[in-house]
Amino acid sequence: MCPSVRWIKTPSKNRLELGPKTATLPDLLVMDKERRLIIAGNWKCNKTVAEALDLVNGLKRELVAVTEADIVICPPFTALDAVSKAIFDSPLRLGAQNLSEQGYGAFTGEIAPGMLRDLSVRYVILGHSERRQYQAESDALVARKAANAHANNLVPIVCVGETLAEREASITEKVVGTQVRGSLAGLTVEQVEQTVLAYEPVWAIGTGKTATTAQAQEVHFFIRSVVASLHGETTARRIRIQYGGSVKPGNARELLGQPDVDGALVGGASLEVRNFADIVKNTLQATA
Ligand code: PGA
Repeated sequence: MCPSVRWIKTPSKNRLELGPKTATLPDLLVMDKERRLIIAGNWKCNKTVAEALDLVNGLKRELVAVTEADIVICPPFTALDAVSKAIFDSPLRLGAQNLSEQGYGAFTGEIAPGMLRDLSVRYVILGHSERRQYQAESDALVARKAANAHANNLVPIVCVGETLAEREASITEKVVGTQVRGSLAGLTVEQVEQTVLAYEPVWAIGTGKTATTAQAQEVHFFIRSVVASLHGETTARRIRIQYGGSVKPGNARELLGQPDVDGALVGGASLEVRNFADIVKNTLQATA
């Protein structure tokens, strides 16, 4: 059972005027989490159908009572059907890991939005750094896929993040700002508000190196300010921004406690019931 969460409301404040200040742990108890947290497991290219069912049945047992946050699991395409049936009566939601920018038709190897909707998929991860790197996905392509997702009532989780070389060259904001602007290009204000962004520093993915809370909060604040410059402060305050990159049970709560961090995109630690369940529980658990 997940202990109930009590985010004690503080008078609403304009975060964009607060600056990229990090929250210390005691602040968590009075933090105004005005955006609903979204914690997603990206299983990447892992799990047979039988293994996926084992994992999802364990997660169902552990997370049956979690209603305070959106919990999304993103199996490979081959396991979507089985996992969809398995989570039908649970609070878990289903995500896919990619989507074509096209609909049905002569596009060998692609997955159209209607195929995902047919399996009750609600979210789709787009522009993950592994796809940007290995499939040469561009911001423009990610933007077309995001538009296709929205047009078909799928929520895109759009990933951005700098490499280690880019961070060391002090061009993180330039890189991430370009990715955010390019990957959201052409979306309406309403669509941007409904999009989930995921800040995933490439140097932290699968490496065991996590961004510090200060590094994460700084970039999340920056991303929110880019969205504000594009679509205004209301949209910037509404859009949810996940952190991804070696999120684990031991660091999730502190990372997700930062004012501009609205959830996590979890890779390696989402492949095992105990780790993913503890990420969710540790984050939501009230310490008082
Ligand atoms: P990781 O992956 O948690 O294994 O670092 C995160 C991701 O790639 O989404």
